[in-house]
Amino acid sequence: MITKTKRVKTGYPELANVLFSKPQIARRVGELARRINADYTGRKPVIIGMLKGSFMFIADLLRQIKIPVELDFLCVSSYVGETSSGMIKMNFDIKAEICDRDVILIDDIVDTGFSLAWVRKHIMARQPKSLEICVLLDKAARRKVFVPVRYTGFTVQDAFLVGYGLDYNERYRELPVIGTLKKENL
Ligand code: IMP
Ligand code: MG
Repeated sequence: MITKTKRVKTGYPELANVLFSKPQIARRVGELARRINADYTGRKPVIIGMLKGSFMFIADLLRQIKIPVELDFLCVSSYVGETSSGMIKMNFDIKAEICDRDVILIDDIVDTGFSLAWVRKHIMARQPKSLEICVLLDKAARRKVFVPVRYTGFTVQDAFLVGYGLDYNERYRELPVIGTLKKENL
């Protein structure tokens, strides 16, 4: 006998669920860009993107930024030690001179907060004039260390998300929506 599993059609064969569609993401990214444009009028901030996850978010956000900006990237990876305190490794750093500059640090998602808290401290050591954090997604309930996030796209539940820059073992970053993977892809 053939048993059929009932599946919700997402339009993306890898995904069990689409949490945020293309228009939902575009609308929210536009709102964040408008807030940044208003808050930084007359200033020229340095935008620092955390690779790799933020690449798509930054590309879309910057297309709607009307103030002059400079762009740089850094890349950290995190691994969880036996004590489950986040250990961060710097893979590559920014080149921009940020002393006395307004800085906006951008990431795809904040989860425990270890990565952003570490990078924030690293940037603050170079004495920027100001530093604000912007994330597309916030798993607020999972936070282990406080991170002052100024701009948040969406607050999400604790589920593993992929797409729009977010990966699972380096896959699915290219998906234009954000969703959860089907069990067979985990
Ligand atoms: P944190 O240091 O625990 O806040 O982790 C932040 C980083 O973990 C993010 O920048 C992502 O690269 C990754 N991450 C956390 N949650 C997810 C997820 O649901 N999907 C994909 N990557 C995630
Ligand atoms: Mg990341």
